[in-house]
Parts: sequence; structure tokens; C-alpha cells
Amino acid sequence: AHNERESLYIALGYARDFFVKSLHSEEGKSIGLSYFKERGFNQNIIEKFDLGYALNGWSHLHEAAKADGFSDEILLKSGLILQKEGDPQRLYDRFRGRVIFTIHNLGGKPVGFGARILTQDKKQPKYINSPETEVYHKSDILYGIFQAKKSIREKDNCYLVEGYTDVISMHLAGIENVVASSGTSLTESQIKLIKRFSDNITVLYDGDAAGIKASLRGIDMILEGGLNVKAVVFPNGEDPDSYARKVGSSAFKDYLESKAQDFISFKIGLYAEETANDPIKQANLIKEVVQSLGKIPDPIIRTVYIRKSADLLGIDEDIIQAELNKIYLKGK
Ligand code: CTP
Ligand code: MN
Ligand code: MN
Ligand code: MN
Ligand code: MN
Repeated sequence: AHNERESLYIALGYARDFFVKSLHSEEGKSIGLSYFKERGFNQNIIEKFDLGYALNGWSHLHEAAKADGFSDEILLKSGLILQKEGDPQRLYDRFRGRVIFTIHNLGGKPVGFGARILTQDKKQPKYINSPETEVYHKSDILYGIFQAKKSIREKDNCYLVEGYTDVISMHLAGIENVVASSGTSLTESQIKLIKRFSDNITVLYDGDAAGIKASLRGIDMILEGGLNVKAVVFPNGEDPDSYARKVGSSAFKDYLESKAQDFISFKIGLYAEETANDPIKQANLIKEVVQSLGKIPDPIIRTVYIRKSADLLGIDEDIIQAELNKIYLKGK
């Protein structure tokens, strides 16, 4: 007898197989596979990431799973099917007519799916994702961790990106130590997950206002977790996927190497222009930097960064230290 978690894993594995198989059906080939090919995804990467296709219809997966003995209860609990609002007897597939990104846990088992729309329909969400379930806690999972863990350990660094396609394009560019926070804000438990493999994270969020905001927040979270953090800024409107495809893998790698900044330089660089001739903004920047410094638990690392900040901001270390003491007095 299986317990419920075990049944969920089996149902999710079944769905993965179904989506993978559907990608090679007539409909899947002409719609899903051609979409992946356009994005430069080859057969090898499609297999490595269990990319698939959800047929366009209300109950393809549900019918198949039912015929193979899965109960509605398990299919509902796995998030694969839904009850119609106002008519809970009516059940339908969550993922329909979309390409599928399988989300694996650390051990490589499918625990959820992200499904991308293929049209430009602005009325529908670009991605539909699995809900929280007994085996899928979004805040504990990072997309790509299973495929990345070995490389994160070997390179002793983890690239952190926003999206599914960023992870995949970076693998295609030969960079395997990469995981995605999947658009949600980074959590403490995700940082702990990375820390099992390396103490170093390089944040590669999208080159737009939302990405920069998320980077700043992510950086403070990572510092609080006691890890070392760098960041790379992409040109406006580019993300790692689009940029890697635009410049090619070798120029992309060079870009990452040459543009990776420690978090202090990243923060100061972001505000450099607007603070240049504005003492008030400059003072705010100093306070911003001090906030981040206050998040570093290790006193030696903190001291090194205090020195660096003083240098870059052109102010005395003592001033930074005095500001920091204020934070500590407040008990953060
Ligand atoms: N995301 C989501 N739901 C949305 C939009 C985004 O879950 N409606 C998540 C997805 O995990 C997505 C990530 O946030 O991969 C980053 O979003 P975005 O940058 O908008 O998408 P991309 O990953 O760049 O996807 P694409 O290149 O296909 O447009
Ligand atoms: Mn649980
Ligand atoms: Mn984005
Ligand atoms: Mn993006
Ligand atoms: Mn993108």
C-alpha cells in the first residue's frame, strides 16, 4: 500500500510521461515541438528537462489517467485537474494547449509543471503553474536544481535566474550551474537549498525594473543567509535567455565573467547616475548600502565590505560603522 505522497508522485510521473508523449503527437509536433525548435531547444535539452506539451482539450489527461486507474481524488490533489466553479462534479485539465516545463525536486522526481501559452493572447496568463500540493511547496523548490546540483558543486557557484527558459538557454550555452526562482521572490529555504552545494550565488535577473527590484531584495536575502552574492545587470529588455541567443554562448559567458559585480558595486552602480549631483540622494544611497551591510552575519566579511563601500562611496569607514551601529541598536 502506498501512502498519499507516493500516490501523488506516481500521478505526477504519469502526467510527465503523458506530456512528453503528447509533444510527439501530430498536434504536439506541429504546435509544441515547433515552438521549442524556434526557441533553439534541441531534442537533447527537451529530454533533459522533460519538456512536453498539453493537448488542447478539456480532459485529455484526465481521461487517460482515469483509464489507467488513477482516482479523481489523487488527480485533484496533484493539481493536474480542477473542479469547475459552481459545479464541482465537473472536472477539467489544468494544462491545455500549452508547452510544458516539468518541475523536478532535488531527487529528480516531477513535482509540478509550468505551462506556457503559445499565442500573444494578453487576456490569458503567460504561464499557468501547478498549485501548492503535498509534494510541491513552491517556496522550497528551485527550477532546475536537479539538473544543476552537480555543476553548482563543481563550479562552487550558482547562477540564479528568473525563468524556466533562462535555465534552459544557459544549459544550451554550456552553463549548467543555474536555477530559477520562477518569478516568485526568493525564500530563505531556497537559499538554504543552494547552500547545500555552494556558498556563492550570482544573481542574473531580467534587465527591467521588476528584475532589478527583485535582485536588490534577493541580494539582501542571500546576505542574510550568510552566502556571498554577486549580480550581473543585463541590457534593458534582455533576460539571460534572450541575451544568450542574441550574442551567442561564448560572448554570453564572457559577459557573465566580466560583468559580475559584488553586491556593493551593483547597488552603487545602480544609483550612481541619479545620485551624482544630489547630496540627499547620495545620503540615501549610503543608508541603502548600510542596510545591506547590516545583513552580513560574518563580522570579517562585513569588515571587508565596509572598507570596500567606504572606498566606492568616497566616505570614511567610521561613518559607515556609525550608521551600522544605529541599525544594531535598533535590533534590526
Ligand atoms: N511567471 C509565472 N507566471 C506568469 C509570468 C511569469 O509563473 N504569468 C514565472 C515563470 O516561472 C517565468 C518567470 O516567472 O519563467 C519569469 O517571467 P518572465 O520573465 O515574464 O518570463 P520568461 O521566463 O522570460 O519567459 P519567456 O521568455 O517565455 O517570455
Ligand atoms: Mn508538506
Ligand atoms: Mn521578467
Ligand atoms: Mn524573462
Ligand atoms: Mn524570456
